[in-house]
Amino acid sequence: MEYTLTQEAPEKFATDCLMIGVHENAGLSGPAAAIDRLLGGELAAIVQRGDIEGKPGQTLPVLRSTGSIPRVLLVGMGVPGALKPAQYKEAVVRASQAAIELHVKNFANFLSEIPVKDRSVEWALEQAVVASEEALYRFDRLKTRNPVRALPHGCTFGVSGLSKEKADIALSAGQAIARSISFAKDLANLPGNMCTPSYLAEQAQALGTTAELKVTVLEESDMETLGMGALLAVAQGSHEPAKLLVLEYAGASAGEAPIVLVGKGVTFDSGGISIKPAASMDEMKFDMCGAATVLATIKAASEMKLPLNLIGLIPTTENLPGGSAIKPGDIVTSLSGQTIEILNTDAEGRLILCDALTYAERFKPAAVIDIATLTGACVIALGSQAGGLLSNNEALSAELDQAGQTAADRVWPLPLWDEYQKQLDSNFADMANIGGREAGTITAACFLARFTESYAWAHLDIAGIAYKGGKEKGATGRPISLLIEFLRRRAKPS
Ligand code: BES
Ligand code: MN
Ligand code: ZN
Repeated sequence: MEYTLTQEAPEKFATDCLMIGVHENAGLSGPAAAIDRLLGGELAAIVQRGDIEGKPGQTLPVLRSTGSIPRVLLVGMGVPGALKPAQYKEAVVRASQAAIELHVKNFANFLSEIPVKDRSVEWALEQAVVASEEALYRFDRLKTRNPVRALPHGCTFGVSGLSKEKADIALSAGQAIARSISFAKDLANLPGNMCTPSYLAEQAQALGTTAELKVTVLEESDMETLGMGALLAVAQGSHEPAKLLVLEYAGASAGEAPIVLVGKGVTFDSGGISIKPAASMDEMKFDMCGAATVLATIKAASEMKLPLNLIGLIPTTENLPGGSAIKPGDIVTSLSGQTIEILNTDAEGRLILCDALTYAERFKPAAVIDIATLTGACVIALGSQAGGLLSNNEALSAELDQAGQTAADRVWPLPLWDEYQKQLDSNFADMANIGGREAGTITAACFLARFTESYAWAHLDIAGIAYKGGKEKGATGRPISLLIEFLRRRAKPS
């Protein structure tokens, strides 16, 4: 979509659809009151009548037969001054969806001028762009019957509270974030027969066209030379060759320690010999959402020219059963030298991550963050609202927590106490790859913690937030917003 900004008042405006806010218990917002005067009190009467209460995210289209504003979309924006960031984002998504349903060519959105609790006007504009693109996103390239009606292609935001310079910066940041989220959604929504490890490698290589971004692809033979026995073990049941993608973004001087992002890239997780039940197994094409998040975050960081050094590591493979697949009871040697008894081949994510995490040591990182759809237990614990956050470093954990809150892309901490480690005891190897029924998200992180002792590390379990199931099935692009916010703060320490 094409975006423009205006400092003008909404009543000066010609648009297919004008979005304005209605507050709970307080009626029309400032700009809405001006429009109302233009429309002879029509909107105030509608609000007075109680047709819209103003609860966050409510929408009510007011269709008109004459005048320069054929449609007004009233949007609930809650109690004045009390609108929370997540509510604001959701309200803008709903408003844009309503505009799409009205089949308009363009719309003007003045919700961006409504104050959001504890957030700046720049934030509101940036996130309005992200929310609009969220509403517009479609994945229909594999449908042969194309949609009948076109989507809106123009959007103007009201930015009366911002200088042109600041508004332009916020707009382009919002666009960079939104583009990278759509990019990640596209990768994740692609089916497993198309989005293979080789496809991810091609996508990574295509990103590496700028001077600041170098991309290297390690093949299975390279992994053998290095001794990545855990990653190779997962890959051995599949005909698709595994890869380890290495992306290096240099936004700061060479001496500056990089942040390393590690993304789980299982392009299809059948469970392997410990095979999963058939119901919803198709959703395991989303088991590479961590990888998509890392690619997209690095893409955004390089587009935004963030002044820091960033490394992306993506171990990518399929997890399939077969004559050469790993079996329960098999013992493998990881890159770190530690041996692992594979008691369940469906706990494959930690096996591919542990070798990538050991590989991360060579970059002498300032911090390492892995992002993975790692455990069903995390979906049970936190649902689809928050990702799981586990870390060996309190300051890093707090930074990620804060960044998630600011970006309305939240994670929630879980403990990583030593007491849980004994659940991974094995009779035959240094550790088992599963820790029993209890605390599944924590024991998965405890496993990873054994490979991350030499640096500050955090693990984001995104099994519950990376995609939606059911009627709305599709990737969400989370937690890209969180990570970009984290990186921006790292790039400019306050
Ligand atoms: N990819 C799954 C985790 C997952 C489950 C993601 C549901 C999204 C939704 C992971 O590889 C897995 O299978 N984990 C097992 C671990 C268990 C065998 C210890 C799980 O969570 O059941
Ligand atoms: Mn699995
Ligand atoms: Zn998995």
